[in-house]
Amino acid sequence: MANFSLTTPIYYVNAKPHLGHAYTTIIGDALARWHRLMGDNVHFLTGTDEHGLKIQQAADDAGLTPIEFADTIAPQFKEAWAKLNISNDDFIRTTEPRHYAGVAKLLQACYDAGDIELDVYSGKYCVACEEYFTDEELEDDLCPIHKRPVEYFEEENYFFRLSRFQDRLLEWYASHPGAMTPDFRANEALGLIRSGLRDFSVSRTSLTWGIPLPWDSKHVAYVWFDALTNYMSAVGYGTDDERFNEWWPVDYHLIGKDIVRHHCVYWPAMLMSAGIELPKGWGIGGWLLSGGEKMSKTSGNVVNPLDLVDDIGVDGFRYYVLAETSFGQDGDFTYEGLLTRYNSDLANNLGNLLSRVATVVDKKCGGIGPSPAADSVLATAAESAWQDTAAAWHSLQPSKALEATWSLIRATNAYLENNEPWKSEPGEAVDRVMGDALEALRIVAVLITPAIPQTAQAVWERIGMPGQVSDQRIPAAAAWGQYPGGATVTKGDPLFPRRQLPA
Ligand code: MSP
Repeated sequence: MANFSLTTPIYYVNAKPHLGHAYTTIIGDALARWHRLMGDNVHFLTGTDEHGLKIQQAADDAGLTPIEFADTIAPQFKEAWAKLNISNDDFIRTTEPRHYAGVAKLLQACYDAGDIELDVYSGKYCVACEEYFTDEELEDDLCPIHKRPVEYFEEENYFFRLSRFQDRLLEWYASHPGAMTPDFRANEALGLIRSGLRDFSVSRTSLTWGIPLPWDSKHVAYVWFDALTNYMSAVGYGTDDERFNEWWPVDYHLIGKDIVRHHCVYWPAMLMSAGIELPKGWGIGGWLLSGGEKMSKTSGNVVNPLDLVDDIGVDGFRYYVLAETSFGQDGDFTYEGLLTRYNSDLANNLGNLLSRVATVVDKKCGGIGPSPAADSVLATAAESAWQDTAAAWHSLQPSKALEATWSLIRATNAYLENNEPWKSEPGEAVDRVMGDALEALRIVAVLITPAIPQTAQAVWERIGMPGQVSDQRIPAAAAWGQYPGGATVTKGDPLFPRRQLPA
């Protein structure tokens, strides 16, 4: 069994989980579930980023100590992910002892390599980004990301000599084409490296809420150095070498376009300095915008994903997130868009197919599903649907994967419309059509498992298949002809009742 590991960013605990956080996490979850379906041994990591000035300030505002404050927010992320049916294998908090051990070890390794040195730094700092900006990078003197004023800081800091890594990073990426995906985001990252790299400070003396440097405890680690290390500390770096060797390097870091500099420039340089293998891949997503702006607590335009789940159901929401935008591009969240997609793809296509099949089997086949024909026209549609679905997941294109899966749903609806089994007398001809449709639905149930797992199981049970659809393995389970004739097909309520668009 091959290992496959992937990570989401770890989310700042200054805010409750919002739609933007859910976006990256759902994509990670679907990919993790796809790989489990392929028989891989999967490790899917998420967590919370709990140190730094931003959290310290949020705690101060709430009248709590930073850890008390983090303790109120971190469980809300865990609960949100449980509600969104996120199948993470671990959840790391950067305030855990295992993480402290990993950060101390990595800092020491870079220090011993001579790449961390003491220096004085002054500059303009955006607390929301936890990042310094040059005057050229600012827009009207405001942070280009948060559109907020920056603060002038001057500190004696330890610096990571990033400037030494420009050529090595460019060479590494040149010899690992496709490591960052999609291509246009990779080009943006390479542009950052080509435009010249500034050393960055890896320590702070102006705050105490962080991990002390192992060789100079007056300083705490810069929150980004601390945070990035979660990807290794969670799998044993600093505490369990055997486990670390089993899971490192990671297959994919899923990140948003706002944190490319940290993940695709700082992080690989830090690893090179410490002599650690680089990640195998980075998946760089766009933003889910709301009213044309990045959704963020700071911008005050957040949509609570849990409200949407209560409204449209967990799978309706997951489907929207995965299908609506092509990974890497920005998407604009609208409630109308959510309902439109729900009505067309889930209610009309998938829901309708299942209810049609169940109704005809009930009326014409006594509620018992007939077996499929080996030479059905749908067999070819099923073959290309699963091949294309697989190719799209493997190239990190969830929306394409769903389009490919939906091609089988559409082909099956068209097959029913061409044959109109509801108009025929019970008999061999109807049985043949319905056996084929049930077999197509069986394969659809398998293929939708990563995106909409509850629905997949519901379809599986309604067509009379035993056990858990998530225990199926592709490619075996995608091969045509396995629906066992003789299973009981259940009609049940509509899976996705149609929704009215707001007037
Ligand atoms: N804590 C850092 C990440 C450290 S990873 C070692 C951080 N946290 S964050 O909570 O502000 O945002 C993390 C990620 O959430 C973003 O990079 C992005 O992947 C995702 N998103 C947050 N808002 C988003 C949108 N509006 N749209 C899509 N994703 C967004 O940065």
